[in-house]
Amino acid sequence: MKTFYITTAIDYVNGSPHLGHAYEKVLTDVIARFRRQMGDKVWFLTGVDEHGQKVQQSAKKRGIPPQEFTDEVSAEFRALLPKLNISNDDFIRTTEGRHKTVVRAVLQQLFDKGEIYKAEYKGFYSTRQEQFLQDKDRLPDGSWPEIFGEVTEIVESNYFFKLRQYQEWLVEFLTKNENFVFPQFRQKQVLEFLKEPLNDLCISRPRERLEWGITLPFDEGYVTYVWFDALLNYYSAVADQPGLWPAAYHVIGKDILVPPHAVYWPIMLHAAGLELPRGIIAHGWWLQRGAKMSKSTGNALNPLDLVAEFGADAFRYFLIREMNVGQDSDFTREQFLVRYNSELANNFGNLVNRTLNMTNRFAGATVPAAELAEDAEKELHALWEKTRDEVILLCEGFQFHTALEKTFFFITATNAYIEKRAPWKLGKSAEAHDQALLRTSLATMAEALRLGVAAIQHVMPSTADKINAVLGYAPGAIWRDELTWGAKLTGAKVAEALVLFPRPEKPKA
Ligand code: MSP
Repeated sequence: MKTFYITTAIDYVNGSPHLGHAYEKVLTDVIARFRRQMGDKVWFLTGVDEHGQKVQQSAKKRGIPPQEFTDEVSAEFRALLPKLNISNDDFIRTTEGRHKTVVRAVLQQLFDKGEIYKAEYKGFYSTRQEQFLQDKDRLPDGSWPEIFGEVTEIVESNYFFKLRQYQEWLVEFLTKNENFVFPQFRQKQVLEFLKEPLNDLCISRPRERLEWGITLPFDEGYVTYVWFDALLNYYSAVADQPGLWPAAYHVIGKDILVPPHAVYWPIMLHAAGLELPRGIIAHGWWLQRGAKMSKSTGNALNPLDLVAEFGADAFRYFLIREMNVGQDSDFTREQFLVRYNSELANNFGNLVNRTLNMTNRFAGATVPAAELAEDAEKELHALWEKTRDEVILLCEGFQFHTALEKTFFFITATNAYIEKRAPWKLGKSAEAHDQALLRTSLATMAEALRLGVAAIQHVMPSTADKINAVLGYAPGAIWRDELTWGAKLTGAKVAEALVLFPRPEKPKA
């Protein structure tokens, strides 16, 4: 069995989770569920990034110790997962002992190997914001913006990791492994970035400036700074589980690809003598009116509001259907409602209702056997075969939005088949052929629905369970076997009705 270890970025806990954080979890979950269906042994990790200046400041503002603050916010991030139907196997916090031990061991190892050195760092420092500034932070006239307060040039000793010496190695690695980063155009951006010489990476902060971090094992006066701590979570969480490292795929947003995940991370691993992950999947951003949704811009949507209003699966469906992995997407409530009403309630919900309703009305709630295969049935079978093959290929290539589009095209075609057969008319006829056609059409719509459900279950897992339950059906353990058109529902007792996607508003004309 192939091992497939998948991770999300770990979220900063200085604010509440927003739709961008939720999307990354949902996308990773869809990949994890799909790979499980394909027979892989999946391990799915997510978690939170708890150290650093911002957390220290936020805790100070609230007047509570940083640990208390992160306990609170991390619990909020964690509580979101079951509400989004996320099937993670583990949740890591960077304040946990298992993480700190690995970070310190890797730092010590690199220090012993001479990969880390101490040097003076000179720069402009804002005491009010407690951060070093760069020239790009200056106003056009060269002065510093008011928010930084007094800015002074200071010299500080810090530890540096020898990034520069691995630049050529990384370029060679990326040139040989051209699918390391998905989508491929992002890998080109990494190589573009590597055309300029790299600076060694500053990996420490003096404790008097930043206390809330992992102490360097070779110098108690310093804590490790940001990326060395955060990136290692992917390894620290599974270091004691054989077979998982390096079977990893990291799902992250495009803002943390270059340089952290595509430059620092491979070089850190290589320098530490650890194998590289299998790949990185970099998704785009959710925007609102063209601007990145984020806490600091104040345009962030709370995913829980949408889940409360529409349910987790409709929310998941929208995110996955709307976003082409790797591109940006604008989130609008209008577009959400259009998809909810027309695709979920009208198209999909309608197929479920009709199947239950007509099987009850014309066949005593028991799915009959198909007896005929005329052109309409043959066409629908053929469309299914094509759809299934396309869906598998598309999902393997992370094209989940197109896979859903194809599946919903099949659902639309099934509704059109029902219109064509018009079981409500056949039911009025006493002719033997019409009766056989009626039974055939009921069997066909039920089977098409069962197959459609199998094709969307990684996106809408609880909806799939509910529909299978009302169809009186328990799917088998091997997903691929579930995708074959057959007679699996013959004789199944179906329920009377199921309301899946209640209407929140009237659909737009
Ligand atoms: N803590 C770091 C990641 C360390 S990984 C070793 C971090 N945290 S974050 O909270 O700012 O972002 C977490 C993830 O959410 C990132 O992958 C980021 O790209 C993603 N998103 C944050 N806002 C987003 C959108 N508006 N849209 C989609 N995803 C974005 O970075």
